[in-house]
Amino acid sequence: MNISVAIDGPAAAGKSTIANIIAQKFNLMYINTGFMYRAVAYICMEKSIPYTDTSSVCKVAKSLEMRFKNDRILVNGRDLTESIKKPSVSNNVSNYAAIPELRKLLVDMQQKMALKCNVIMDGRDIGTVVLKDTPLKFFLTASAGERARRRCRELKEKNIPAEYDKILNDIIKRDYMDSHREISPLVKSEDALEIDSSNLSISEVVEVISKYIIENSR
Ligand code: DC
Repeated sequence: MNISVAIDGPAAAGKSTIANIIAQKFNLMYINTGFMYRAVAYICMEKSIPYTDTSSVCKVAKSLEMRFKNDRILVNGRDLTESIKKPSVSNNVSNYAAIPELRKLLVDMQQKMALKCNVIMDGRDIGTVVLKDTPLKFFLTASAGERARRRCRELKEKNIPAEYDKILNDIIKRDYMDSHREISPLVKSEDALEIDSSNLSISEVVEVISKYIIENSR
């Protein structure tokens, strides 16, 4: 039987950092589903296809072959990992991610990936929709202020200018959009283990998750 681990939570809660470490530790394929929504948004923006043109957006999504290699995404053979993290994509992706037909297509792809190998997936609807039958579900949170501080630090380390107030506002706006959309909003699955990482280090979060995986996948 395949092992599938689901990690959901709001933007900048540290999901990808943690998922990446757990993937290596347990030899799982890491699938960052946010990257998939970002890749579709990025290609649509490149082709000037607005999120309101649902059928063209879906046509684009169907034409994309997405593959994951460690923490990178290859889209039709192109490594788009850095391009899709740009602020222009971050500020528009929620609109694309709210399209029901697009979500259906991407959820389908994600479920097929989970059938093929042992995976850890992070996103917003993994425990509630994509991997709803897995016993290994986590909901990773941190206060909006702490998430904004972490994002600021991350950008500054890369010598990218970062304004705390603007980052905090963007995070609050994205949380609202992700939690209030009609289809698959960001909510904690009832059976997920909630971890508030505001006062925990990365290794402390990894320890809690590792222990839970070992205890619950026997
Ligand atoms: O985790 P992220 O910031 O890279 O996600 C990008 C966007 O995609 C964000 O607006 C939430 C959305 N998303 C989603 O709706 N469902 C997922 N499974 C993953 C991401």
